[in-house]
Amino acid sequence: MNIRVAAVDDLQKIQACNLLCLPENYQLKYYMYHALSWPLLSYVAEDNKGTIVGYVLAKMEEDADEEPPHGHITSVAVKRTYRRLGLAQKLMDHTARAMIENYNARFVSLHVRVSNRAAFSLYKHTLKFDIYETEPKYYADGEDAYAMKRCLVSFARENNIMPADAVTFFVEEKPKGKGKKAVEAATEVENGGASGSTTTEQTVEA
Ligand SMILES: CC(C)(COP(=O)(O)OP(=O)(O)OC[C@H]1O[C@@H](n2cnc3c(N)ncnc32)[C@H](O)[C@@H]1OP(=O)(O)O)[C@@H](O)C(=O)NCCC(=O)NCCS
Repeated sequence: MNIRVAAVDDLQKIQACNLLCLPENYQLKYYMYHALSWPLLSYVAEDNKGTIVGYVLAKMEEDADEEPPHGHITSVAVKRTYRRLGLAQKLMDHTARAMIENYNARFVSLHVRVSNRAAFSLYKHTLKFDIYETEPKYYADGEDAYAMKRCLVSFARENNIMPADAVTFFVEEKPKGKGKKAVEAATEVENGGASGSTTTEQTVEA
């Protein structure tokens, strides 16, 4: 099994894999938008014949004025017969590393259906994402989503990853005031960013 950066030539196969695995599907141009805008962030897992068996589609959030640079997972999936082999974990870690090295991303966010136990377990227990918000009726069928974040500063420290700009990446942000609010602000930074933000994407993401 091989993990590598996704190329434009892979996009149709990624789309096919997404159709097999998830109800959140996208037009080819949305995959193309990711590949052309952030060509280093999306990855595929392929078997020894070069068949794509899993992918992670990722991007940077660009509309967040007051937040530090951060990545977002648009979609991740592994074909059924290739699950529980550690592929999703590897795909997510490759993307996290690329977000840090190329964009100085201090955290990565995503949405997951509250009923998706496999994905939730992967995010919460294996990858150490935390829930920062529940978004009611996020999905087209009315299901709620957990909005989750993973701190990439600790991930970079643990794995000796060199960020794009070490000075701003590792900076300890000081609380702006005194008292309870300041402590909350400090905790927020430690956890990887401001809480309560929502994606402005019109496309619902997995
Ligand atoms: C969620 C998904 C991507 C996980 O892919 P995967 O390659 O099987 O995951 P990994 O093998 O890397 O799993 C790593 C860990 O995540 C957790 N995990 C993964 N699948 C799990 C399951 N079905 N039940 C409980 N925990 C699970 C486990 O802790 C696992 O470690 P372990 O196998 O040592 O116990 C895969 O099940 C999938 O494609 N599902 C359909 C698409 C989907 O839901 N995508 C997420 C949308 S938000």
